[in-house]
Parts: sequence; structure tokens; C-alpha cells
Amino acid sequence: MEQKHPYVIKEQPGTKSYCACGKSQNLPYCNGAHKGSDFHPWKVEIDEEKTVAICSCGRSAKLPFCDGAHKAQE
Ligand code: FES
Repeated sequence: MEQKHPYVIKEQPGTKSYCACGKSQNLPYCNGAHKGSDFHPWKVEIDEEKTVAICSCGRSAKLPFCDGAHKAQE
């Protein structure tokens, strides 16, 4: 994953599939590119419309959400 900042998205309610392998062409969402690997997407249930920050650096302790760990790389 090359982006060093989270994906900040205003999500609508529903089940979201966020990419865990970094190969999706539709980041931060899973597009099935993990097939054949040991990775599985992060499934998150969004209950209400809200803004989320999805980690793109892979270092967050709260994956798939950003916890600010990317700042250590700047
Ligand atoms: S993008 Fe913020 S912790 Fe990874």
C-alpha cells in the first residue's frame, strides 16, 4: 500500500468489505483481488451514515480503521 493517509469516506448504512491485501483496484474496498491468497476482506457493519477513516498504511492497531499510526512514517 503506497498511500500514507487514510481513506476518509462518508459511508451509508450497510455491510462494507474493505480490502486487506492491498491489491484491490477499488481501494479501500475489496474487489476480489485477494482470491488465491491467505487474505480476506474486513467486513464492517455500518449502522448509520457516518464518516470513517480507513487505514491505507497497514500499521493501524485498529484495522481496518486508521489509528494515526501512519504519522510515524511521515
Ligand atoms: S493510514 Fe492511518 S494508521 Fe494507517
